[in-house]
Formats: sequence, structure tokens, C-alpha cells
Amino acid sequence: MPPTTSTSEEMASASFDSFAELITRELGIKMPANKAQMLQSRLMRRVRTLGLDNLDAYRHHLFHSPGRDEERIHFIDAVTTNKTDFFREPHHFDYLQDTVIPLLSRGRAINRREPFQLWCAGCSSGEEPYTLAMLLSEYAEHERTAHRDFPFSLLATDISTRVLESARAGIYPSSRIAPIPEPLRRKYLRRHRDRSHDLVRVVPALREKIGFHRLNFMSPDYKIQNVFDVVFFRNVLIYFDRPTQEMVISRILRHARPGAFLFVGHSESISGLDLPLRQAGPAIFQKIG
Ligand SMILES: C[S@@+](CC[C@H](N)C(=O)[O-])C[C@H]1O[C@@H](n2cnc3c(N)ncnc32)[C@H](O)[C@@H]1O
Repeated sequence: MPPTTSTSEEMASASFDSFAELITRELGIKMPANKAQMLQSRLMRRVRTLGLDNLDAYRHHLFHSPGRDEERIHFIDAVTTNKTDFFREPHHFDYLQDTVIPLLSRGRAINRREPFQLWCAGCSSGEEPYTLAMLLSEYAEHERTAHRDFPFSLLATDISTRVLESARAGIYPSSRIAPIPEPLRRKYLRRHRDRSHDLVRVVPALREKIGFHRLNFMSPDYKIQNVFDVVFFRNVLIYFDRPTQEMVISRILRHARPGAFLFVGHSESISGLDLPLRQAGPAIFQKIG
């Protein structure tokens, strides 16, 4: 017999509050009552995978079973929204290439001891950091033709273990690569050796450019030693309430140089937040001081 599905009313009265409270406390993600249906359908997949009867049994498993720590990882994978794309919101990549990198490289010495440092915060399954890695590699190659060095380092973080695994693997269905310009596809992607699926894989030389790590924006200490020139923090803020947005950006900015650039999603607004930032362009900010 398939597991019985609670209606959203049943879920709201029995379990929604405890799931929602956990999501907001652990991840900062708002979970208003009108999200009950969506949350239910995401968690029902876990119910089925685990062979449980219903969401109440799942709630017990998540909060009280000996395997609850392990289950938290799957729960986080289930409740986060990981929508992303190569070259998503492309104007930002043009601005990075044409304005930010030339400006910052003029302003300070970039060398092997102090490479150009970029953080892709909330990187999902890797399309965004690989877009950045292609762009920075192209820039470095261009600089080499002028006998200049442009070493860079790229950190990519997310809370979801599942998306980090896909990001590290760098394997994508061919249908996802349309936004990548043809010359970059030829240079940085290969057909995957499993020919039964229409897949491509990012070349090792590009995969090696990125350090992928698990990081929760709600942690008081991010345990990051780097000082970044640029932070891409796009399409994550929308899930947080205003005080959480302010707190998370303040923590991120601790790891950014004065004058560093912060990119947020085009549908995200940070106006009215008390932060040391000035606007430099659409959804682009620069750290003051
Ligand atoms: C919609 S995706 C955005 C991906 C990419 N930045 C883009 O714009 O295409 C949001 C990502 O933020 C991550 N996320 C959500 N809450 C988080 C938290 N508290 N700490 C770290 N990552 C989080 C999710 O796992 C998800 O992969």
C-alpha cells in the first residue's frame, strides 16, 4: 500500500509548525503557512524513500530517532530551492569582466601570494561558479598574452550536500548548456563518457579551480580565512526575512575587502538595511571603507 498523504490542513495542525520552526531556525528560510502544500509534497518524497506511513511518522523520525542527525542532511536537501543556470542574469558577468576585474586589479597587486579572490555564496549545483570559473580563466588567458599574471581563487559554498555533490561532479544534461557561448562550451566541456545519456562534463582543469564547501549562512562563524574581492550572493536573500538578510550580509562582509563588490539577485532588494554598502549598478554593491 502506498503511504497515506495527509491533507495540508492535517499537516498544518500536526507537523507544519515543527517543520517550519526547524527550517527557519536552522536555515533562516521563511516558511509561512501558505507554503504548507509545497513543503508537504517535498517531504512526502522522504516519507516514500524511508518507507514510512505518513508525515507524522516522518516528524518523529526527524526529531527523535537515533538517525536524526543523518536525516537533517536529507531534510535540508529536500526543503532548499536550488534553481540555477549557467550565465543566469548575464549582465552581472559582463559587469564583472568589463568593470570590476580591471578596476580591482589596478587598485592592488594581484600575485601568487594574494590572488584575486571570488566567493560564490549559495552556489547550488555549480552552474554559477563554473560560469565564473570560465570567465576568470578567459581573463587570465587574455592577461597572459600581455605577459601579465592573473592568479585567482574561487570558493563556492552551499548548505545542501546533494547540490554540492553534483557541483563537484560537474556533470550536466546537454539541455542545460544552451546559455554558454559556443567557444566556451568547446573549451570547457566534454561529452560525458556515459553515452547512454545526453550529458556533458566540465573539464578537470576548470573543476580544479573551484573549492566547494558546505557552509550555513546562519552559522555565527563561517570559518573562512580568505578576504574576498568579489562575492556573488544571488537568489538566496529572497528566502530570508529582513533582519536575517541584514545579519547574513554583515557576516559575509566580514570576509570582504574594503571596495569589494557584492552581487545579489535582480529580484532582491537590500535598500533600507543598515550595511556598509553603496550601490554600483543594478543589484551590484560595493563595500564602503
Ligand atoms: C535558488 S539557489 C541560487 C543559486 C545561485 N546562486 C543562482 O543564483 O543561480 C539558492 C541556494 O541557496 C542555498 N541556501 C539556502 N539557505 C541557505 C543557508 N542557510 N546557508 C547556505 N546556503 C543556503 C540553497 O541550498 C540553494 O542552493
